[in-house]
Amino acid sequence: MPTAIEISELVKKFGTTTALDGVSFNINEGEFFGLLGPNGAGKTTLIRILTTLIKPTEGQAKVMGVDVKEMSAEVRKVIGVIPQAMTTDLDLTGYENMDIYARFYSIPKRERKERIEQLLEMVELKERAGELVAAYSGGMRRRLEIARGLIHKPSILILDEPTIGLDPQSRHVVWELLQKFRNEDSLTILMTTHYMDEAEILCSRLAIIDYGKIVAMDTIDALKKQLPQKDVVELSFSGVDSNKAVEETKKISFVHTAVTSDGTMRVSVDNGAQSIPVLIDLLKKIGAKVSSVILKQQTLEDVFIHFTGRPIREEEVKKVSFFIGAGIPRKWGR
Ligand SMILES: Nc1ncnc2c1ncn2[C@@H]1O[C@H](COP(=O)(O)OP(=O)(O)O)[C@@H](O)[C@H]1O
Ligand SMILES: [Mg+2]
Repeated sequence: MPTAIEISELVKKFGTTTALDGVSFNINEGEFFGLLGPNGAGKTTLIRILTTLIKPTEGQAKVMGVDVKEMSAEVRKVIGVIPQAMTTDLDLTGYENMDIYARFYSIPKRERKERIEQLLEMVELKERAGELVAAYSGGMRRRLEIARGLIHKPSILILDEPTIGLDPQSRHVVWELLQKFRNEDSLTILMTTHYMDEAEILCSRLAIIDYGKIVAMDTIDALKKQLPQKDVVELSFSGVDSNKAVEETKKISFVHTAVTSDGTMRVSVDNGAQSIPVLIDLLKKIGAKVSSVILKQQTLEDVFIHFTGRPIREEEVKKVSFFIGAGIPRKWGR
């Protein structure tokens, strides 16, 4: 498979912050590649370098063999970009938003109309094309942005957190759309996300990024096989501090990892069935009242916990939610 994107030892510093700390990986043509990491991991920074918006401090990135630093205009022709924040113009109609972009790319008039209509139909916005984007829902706006990113028939589509802030149904629609475009146009796709389910459903290969470093990279199945444990037990309980429960649980010899979130504790073990009675006994002994116990399959979340030592926490995620839609960020930061 020919290489679509080549990233080698990329470093990006903003003052004293190292947003990217020596990132290297390749993406082959036709892959649906995911970059998974929590808020502040460096995902957007990497996307901004690849899409020629900022220059790396060190290292190199090539898109279809072209260096992003040296030939930005060439790179921009072959990529379609859907940034993290919504960028369609609220004061224009869906059609007008598409048309402006088509003109940016100097698509001839006749072709322009046909291409716009075809794309709007694919994202199921043809009927609403004459309405102002201000009247669109978040999901509709996202779909319009995906269509817009494809206006110049790029060979690589780059999406930064494409479903952040969308309701579950709209997220599913976006997933279906991405799968459809990938199959029909044989696109190479690079997508960043902090959503495990999204990465698990869409990506053929995945890199996990944390504090500017790639901590794991492979197909999802191969990543799961790298985990030392086999089973996951999830316990809900009350009456005892969850951090104390984690601390005590970790002392058990067959426990690989234990983390808590939203009132449940997720424990990875060698043998789930044998572990459950021991875990319940321990919780009872420290004064907890156990309300439910579930034996689970390994998920991508367990892969993330294994490689980073913690789950992707919702509070980290919530901080970015005000970047969504037309809202103006009130506060910046991690
Ligand atoms: N323009 C900038 N100036 C200063 N710091 C920045 C800038 N852009 C990003 N950062 C910092 O770099 C780190 C990575 O940010 P970012 O790439 O946006 O992460 P992600 O997209 O994974 O949430 C964060 O610590 C962020 O605060
Ligand atoms: Mg980001």
